[in-house]
Amino acid sequence: MKKLLLDVDCGVDDAQAIMLALAAPKVEILGITCVHGNTTVENVCKNVLRVLQTCKKPKIPVYKGAAKSILGIKVGDENFHGKDGLGDAPDANAPGLEKIQEENAVSAIIRIVNKNPGEVSLVATGPLTNLALAVRMDPTLPGKLKGLYIMGGNTESRGNTTVCGEFNFAADPEAAYVVLNDYQCETHLACWEFTCYNKLPWEFCDDWLGQDSNKARFMAKIFRRSMEESKKNSGCPDSTGFISCDSLATAAAVDDSFVTESDRYPVSVELAGTHTRGMMIVDTLGLLNKTHKACIMKKVDMKKFETMMMAALK
Ligand code: BDR
Ligand code: CA
Repeated sequence: MKKLLLDVDCGVDDAQAIMLALAAPKVEILGITCVHGNTTVENVCKNVLRVLQTCKKPKIPVYKGAAKSILGIKVGDENFHGKDGLGDAPDANAPGLEKIQEENAVSAIIRIVNKNPGEVSLVATGPLTNLALAVRMDPTLPGKLKGLYIMGGNTESRGNTTVCGEFNFAADPEAAYVVLNDYQCETHLACWEFTCYNKLPWEFCDDWLGQDSNKARFMAKIFRRSMEESKKNSGCPDSTGFISCDSLATAAAVDDSFVTESDRYPVSVELAGTHTRGMMIVDTLGLLNKTHKACIMKKVDMKKFETMMMAALK
């Protein structure tokens, strides 16, 4: 059984990623920690509870984490994810915040990983604020992880938020810097360009959302807005399909054979620069004098991905 801990800024594509993990065989989700990002951390918590209710997994504990970046900046992506983060398609029966655990997300990450040393894979699909705070509180944490999977950063300086900034890294560059430099564990990166090259064709999305299930009806409702936005402009060179970026990172954590080709390089994050703050640095020349190398995903089995995505809404 794979043990996963998900750190999310639940958003529509985070919701898809959570559903993919919930549907995966031989995967146990030990908890879901919430962080600011696509919407407020309170909305993120509510959205995760709603996803869990839809998937009939209300017992998975949900923890509230950082409401702002390390420097105290709040972001948000209302245009894409809606004001509530889930496409502004509310559900009157959605659970409220009383279901959130009392323990905060950072303490929960430290406690759960320490209780299961060497067994937990941490999957981060939002800004990395919780993870950065966690390693400052417990520097032994990375050494006790089985793996770290991150959706974020970029390899060809292509931004989706600023000219050179991918959303999750640009939302908290200091946190991304801390995580890429202090988590000296097996780290897997699903960067923005990689996700652009691995889109789900729109015809697939029609079949995916057309399944006769409550989960598919839920996804069709919350996804409508971002699907329309993506068809107009995906932020990638072309808009021929949907970029379920958070699901790609999660699929890698769920199935070891999903990634078929990757690069290994030292990585870091640019913290200054007029246009480059938040941009990921790939040290192909080895000039940063870092021994730790991250695994940068290049190719994946898209047939497997489609199968996992279909199963997520069954
Ligand atoms: C990332 O930013 C967010 O909008 C998405 O949820 C994803 O995690 C893509 O850059
Ligand atoms: Ca996300």
